[in-house]
Amino acid sequence: IFQLVTEGKFKGIKFLVTLGPTKEDIDPVRYISNWSSGKMGYKIAKYIKDNGGELFVVAGDVCLDLSVFPHVRVKSAEDMYREVISRFQNFDVLIMTAAVADYRVKDIAAKKIKKSDEILTLELIKNKDILYEVSKIKKDKQIVVGFAAETDDLMRNALDKLNKKKLDMIVVNDVSRSDIGFGADDNEVTIFLTNGEKIETGKQSKYNIAKRVVDTAYQLFKSKNE
Ligand code: CTP
Ligand code: CA
Repeated sequence: IFQLVTEGKFKGIKFLVTLGPTKEDIDPVRYISNWSSGKMGYKIAKYIKDNGGELFVVAGDVCLDLSVFPHVRVKSAEDMYREVISRFQNFDVLIMTAAVADYRVKDIAAKKIKKSDEILTLELIKNKDILYEVSKIKKDKQIVVGFAAETDDLMRNALDKLNKKKLDMIVVNDVSRSDIGFGADDNEVTIFLTNGEKIETGKQSKYNIAKRVVDTAYQLFKSKNE
């Protein structure tokens, strides 16, 4: 399932990357989702490939050419959960850029919902937190990287997630800014590491951000596996 690669600084290291949004069905013609374009995860996958890493991509519904990577496409958070959990043990580094829907529709309608009343209420039920489930099976030698899109209280929210999901690092986006983040070609992130270190990237292309993220994860992997 891995691409055969012969050289590069990530040679022999196996990366699992998730990207894009999940979609949660409402009925046969409608869904709930979010604005993730998958571009950040795509650049991360590209940088790994460019540097000889072994790679597998689990992708939500994105308009990107995934044929350049070994990959599987999924629809819902539940589908993504299954693909990630079943593969995780075979990888050294998991980079979870996907924007996983937090809730799904409790009872998906078998037939198209017809409009009637002025107000329609949908009952939603919480999805499993993939990274939290991963934290239960994670081995010491594995590196897990989370992403967080925040509009406020960036640092506190990020550190909460770092702890709760037992991550090695978390990459935080300020999605209240329109010049970076969703769909944009540039990004600016803050990376928090478990050891208390904090890295601010400044505004750069998503490929350069990918470089910072993957290189940092690679350093953590090396320090745990020497
Ligand atoms: N994530 C996940 N499973 C979920 C939801 C999120 O694995 N069901 C992952 C995302 O892929 C991301 C990280 O957790 O790497 C943080 O996602 P985020 O949505 O920022 O955090 P949540 O824990 O869902 O908290 P909230 O949305 O309430 O801020
Ligand atoms: Ca969420």
